[in-house]
Amino acid sequence: MDNNERAVFFGPEGDTSWSLNRLRQNIPDYRHFELDIRNREGVLDLVAGLKPAIIVHTAAQPSHDRAAAIPFADFDTNAVGTLNFLEAARRACPESPFVHMSTNKVYGDLPNSIRLKELETRWDYDDPAYEHGIPETFSIDQSKHSIFGASKVASDVMVQEYGRYFGMPTCCLRGGCLTGPNHSGVELHGFLSYLVRCNVQERPYKVFGYKGKQVRDNIHSEDVANFIVNFAAAPRAGEVYNIGGGKDNSCSIFEAFAMVEELTGKKQQFSYLDENRIGDHICYYSDLRKMKAQYPKWTITRPLKTIFQEIVDSWHNRLSHSA
Ligand SMILES: NC(=O)c1ccc[n+]([C@@H]2O[C@H](COP(=O)([O-])OP(=O)(O)OC[C@H]3O[C@@H](n4cnc5c(N)ncnc54)[C@H](O)[C@@H]3O)[C@@H](O)[C@H]2O)c1
Repeated sequence: MDNNERAVFFGPEGDTSWSLNRLRQNIPDYRHFELDIRNREGVLDLVAGLKPAIIVHTAAQPSHDRAAAIPFADFDTNAVGTLNFLEAARRACPESPFVHMSTNKVYGDLPNSIRLKELETRWDYDDPAYEHGIPETFSIDQSKHSIFGASKVASDVMVQEYGRYFGMPTCCLRGGCLTGPNHSGVELHGFLSYLVRCNVQERPYKVFGYKGKQVRDNIHSEDVANFIVNFAAAPRAGEVYNIGGGKDNSCSIFEAFAMVEELTGKKQQFSYLDENRIGDHICYYSDLRKMKAQYPKWTITRPLKTIFQEIVDSWHNRLSHSA
């Protein structure tokens, strides 16, 4: 279910209809519902009719920066839209696993309070407690989240509550940078996809503060999907997982420039702005140990280099078709 709201949030470059066409062509039984998740009656009716065996809820207004300009649309989509789905599931299929894409922005800017060390090309934690990254026990309270982060906290807590209060098999996946060849990256969201697009098209990329050494952990969408399959096979109630690429798949902006330059042979053009994005993390990578302990068959299968290569190939392909 997707109403292509991404094109409304981010303009034509955020349009995902090309991906919908791909799904329709490649998956014979694919059925699409162009429904707005804010349409409560529509969601209740659809879920009541379908009684899905699993719900994977990924629809959202996903940008930090965009949210401040559209707080009603952001909250109605992220928080209320999620409640619409949860309640629809409780009424129609309470036994079905319900997986919600949450975000690491639920931790607000609290990760920035961890002592850091500045290395040549990146920031890193200078506290052994975070040697493996940020765990799920990290506080989501009393920090600056951005309007987007706050609407995602509301949905995250509600998804947990439907698990704890109603006993439904729900979980929140608090994503680091989720990406892959099919992302429609734009300046305001989808950093790796957008950065590669800029390189391929020889457009300047804007670096927002932190000396370009800010660190993100990147995970291929297929590894996210693999985790969901594992969870659905043995679901728990009201769980929370930090899902990202972990330390091994982390990179700073400048390290990302070097990696993409190596693949395309094109020098990355960029401009540097002193001011960081409000509430932006300086260094964030997910501690994956809880996921691996509870679902030992799951692991990261796509290293960073493969992710870069797939995104480069995809942009070459997509841009040559749109030219
Ligand atoms: N990509 C990341 O780095 C990242 C990181 C952390 C969390 N997440 C979360 O993962 C989920 C998916 O993110 P993504 O990167 O694929 O974003 P995306 O924008 O590519 O996908 C979200 C989809 O939801 C659709 N949508 C938005 N509002 C809608 C509405 N009202 N009704 C129906 N459909 C609607 C959009 O058209 C879009 O296709 C989101 O919940 C996001 O917050 C993503």
